[in-house]
Amino acid sequence: MPHKPGRSASPLAGLAPEDILARMTLDEKIGQLHMVSADAVITGPSGPPDGLRDLDQGRIGSVLNVWGDAAADLQRKAVEQTRLGLPLLFCLDVVHGFRTVFPVPLGEAASFSDAIWRDTAAAAAREAAEAGVALTFAPMADVSRDPRWGRICEGGGEDPLVNARMARAKIAGFQGDDLRDEARLAATVKHFAAYGAGLGGREYESADVSDDAMAADYLPPFRAAVAAGVAALMPAFLDIAGVPMTANRALLRDVLRKAWGFGGVTITDYNAVAELIAHGAAEDGLAAAALAFNAGNDVDMVSGLYQRHLAEAAALGLVALDDIDAAALRVLRLKQALGLFENPWRFCPPATLAQIASRREAARRAARESLTLLCDPQGALPLPRQLDRIAVIGALATSAADMRGAWAETGDIGAIVTIADGVRAAWPQADVAVCGDDPAAAAAAARAAGVAILCLGETAAMSGEAAARANPVLPDGQQVLLDAVLATGARVIVLLACGRPLVAPQLFAADCAVLVIWGPGSEAGHAIADALSGEASPSGRLPVSWPRAVGQIPVFYARRPTGRPHEAGARYSNGYADLPIAPQFPFGHGLGYATFSWSDLQVRAMDRAGATSPLSISLAVHCEAGGGWPQNRRTAAIETVFLFARVRVPGRTRPLLLLRDFTRVTLRPGETRRVSFDVTHDWLTREGLAPAPADVSFLEIIVAASAEPEADPARCLRRVLVARKGADHGRATG
Ligand code: NOJ
Repeated sequence: MPHKPGRSASPLAGLAPEDILARMTLDEKIGQLHMVSADAVITGPSGPPDGLRDLDQGRIGSVLNVWGDAAADLQRKAVEQTRLGLPLLFCLDVVHGFRTVFPVPLGEAASFSDAIWRDTAAAAAREAAEAGVALTFAPMADVSRDPRWGRICEGGGEDPLVNARMARAKIAGFQGDDLRDEARLAATVKHFAAYGAGLGGREYESADVSDDAMAADYLPPFRAAVAAGVAALMPAFLDIAGVPMTANRALLRDVLRKAWGFGGVTITDYNAVAELIAHGAAEDGLAAAALAFNAGNDVDMVSGLYQRHLAEAAALGLVALDDIDAAALRVLRLKQALGLFENPWRFCPPATLAQIASRREAARRAARESLTLLCDPQGALPLPRQLDRIAVIGALATSAADMRGAWAETGDIGAIVTIADGVRAAWPQADVAVCGDDPAAAAAAARAAGVAILCLGETAAMSGEAAARANPVLPDGQQVLLDAVLATGARVIVLLACGRPLVAPQLFAADCAVLVIWGPGSEAGHAIADALSGEASPSGRLPVSWPRAVGQIPVFYARRPTGRPHEAGARYSNGYADLPIAPQFPFGHGLGYATFSWSDLQVRAMDRAGATSPLSISLAVHCEAGGGWPQNRRTAAIETVFLFARVRVPGRTRPLLLLRDFTRVTLRPGETRRVSFDVTHDWLTREGLAPAPADVSFLEIIVAASAEPEADPARCLRRVLVARKGADHGRATG
């Protein structure tokens, strides 16, 4: 990779952004608001042809989809051959890795580990920064409750708090404490807002989201990202109740800028300014540019309409010159924060061997701790260390590209450890028979080995952008393959690759273990073998409710109580006539090899009274070995504890459960440790960004292993904190 190949600084180095702005022509200012694609990877329909030609006039501010030598060459032109020498900002979707690939975000969410979320972002940032990238279009903070939507795999799943915590951790990992650090990237939180709410799970769809749902569910992760100092924000493609987000002045200016005080850069999504015309919200390019700009979008990604029309719009009085100055200044400030004027060739020095090794270790740990064991009715796992023969079945077993997940096209395929490679490495003495998707050959291999690791699920391309599926089920032919392998009577472990929950009731009713591997990344095979062999106990927990049927979608735990709660067999009660109302697996579900039990819930008020008075909630978590695991007592297992609140407020319905906090604890068999949460009454009773209600008639805290607290009584403790006279103290599953 090139390292500082050009002149050491821009001629503008040392000047304040305001002074730089004062030297710029209107065209140059608008140039700072113009982003083009260099198409080294393709992430959308092609923009105007020859997008880079305006570089010579200093009329391009940023370039996406470029890195390495190509980026260095463009920077040389920008800094050495334009009137002012303004450096370019290089941007890329570094979503779950650059060359080293980490699990897809939904998979990483399953680790429920702020540290993993942060560390993998930091590792990805450094690697991308070594190639000259300065800004990533990540994290995605869209609450998503519809597995038909392909992009559910890019975020933290169904819960606002999880998305908020994940966004915060990712921003800390990408940005560090100081953007000037060459190993960091500026982050862009996206897609503001409610992009996950598109109707029918369809990509680029409309949604109609109430103000309450915005405040309770969709905005909080963005608010958290802004509070965490995110450098940039991207509005969503969709329209909410008839207002395209690219034109949503109320959210972009009044909420984001005024109420939240966001001072960073807003960047439209790809070609979204021009798409205002297809939305029907603007007649032509001039109107679209003015509409998007006035709504509060600083930078136009790819459409070219700012560059073509903003000056004319200003001359016609459709946009204010002051606003153009303000937007250009925000871009200049970001460039200055990144140190680009002093160091336009902002290539982080290449990693040392030790740094590369620690990146791989981070990828293995993240993949391992995202693996989610959904069921194991026969106790098939872990597999014994001494196995003579193992069959590894399915095309995914040898596919490196599919382990890369949905959004890491720059990932180094050659360095991906496939599932078959990982199994071979973990059982070096065993005869590992690897076969593809042919049911007869698979059955023969399973029969001969007696142990079958069956790789099912989605290819990487089946998830991600523009990968909505009306029927998110096992791909064609896989049920036949499963049946053939099960019929052999072998011990069967299904590894389920997916960027979303897959509706597969027959799979979950079968006599086999199902381990969800999501899109595991570079260390796929090793991480999976760690769990299969018992080297580690699976510890992933579902960040989304897993539906039983497509007709249950959207399915999420934070339902509101109805006037006619579900009652089995009762005609006039909430639910379905043909299906249970509960999901196949609830939010938070995930098995491991150890047995945990919880006890001694204590709630301590840290000082007297008052809504904001801090509470310390603690419990004891005990770990026991389970079913022959571990073979030595040194191996630890990870337990995740969720803190839910159940609140009643007169005159309102409130969700049956609200996640208020979560934490993990790592224990060896025989160990007990106390875990604690520090929260306030105010936080327990609040819903999203709404203020805490003045009048709470009932407040119960529930620490539980999943959003179906009753499912595991040994891992569920509850305490009523407020119970006013007349309030209903019914159970949380009503
Ligand atoms: C479109 C996607 O919606 C967005 O998430 C991405 O950052 C841009 N393309 C740029 O690739």
